[in-house]
Amino acid sequence: TTVLVLNGPNLGRLGVREPDVYGHDTLADLAKACEEQGAELGLEVEVRQTDDESEMIGWVHGAVDAGSHVVLNPAAFTHYSYAVRDACAMVTKAGLVLIEVHLSNPATREVFRHTSVVSGVATGTIAGFGREGYLLALRAVAARS
Ligand code: DQA
Repeated sequence: TTVLVLNGPNLGRLGVREPDVYGHDTLADLAKACEEQGAELGLEVEVRQTDDESEMIGWVHGAVDAGSHVVLNPAAFTHYSYAVRDACAMVTKAGLVLIEVHLSNPATREVFRHTSVVSGVATGTIAGFGREGYLLALRAVAARS
C-alpha cells in the first residue's frame, strides 16, 4: 500500500515559518517521522511539498492513476482552490482514502481559514495536532486499506 503525503504552499518553510503556530520541526523532520510511522504500519510513504498549484494537482492525478492513498495538507489551497478540490474528489471517488491534515486548527484562527473547500471530498480531516496529525492520518489510512 502506497501513501503520498502531499504538502502545499509555504510548508517547505516549516521550522522558520511562524513557529508559534506551526512548531519548530522542519519539513525534513516531519517527512522522517512519516516515513518511520509508515514503516511501522507496513505502508510505503512518500512525502512531497510544492508551492505550485499545478504541480499539486498533477500529484493528486498521479495518486489516482497509481492507486495510492493520499494524506494532504493543502495549506492555503484549502481555503480557495476548487481545482485542488476537484482533483481530490477523483481520489475518493476512485475508492482511495484521502485525509486532509492541518498542523494548526484553522477553526481557531482567522475567519478566512474556517472554510475548507477540500473537506467535502475528503475521507476525513485531522487538524490541530501538529506533526502528530500526520501520524494519526497514516494510522487511519492503514486501518482503512
Ligand atoms: C495549514 C493551515 C492553513 O490555513 C495555512 O494556510 C497553512 C497551513 C496548517 O497546516 O495548519 O499554510 O494548512
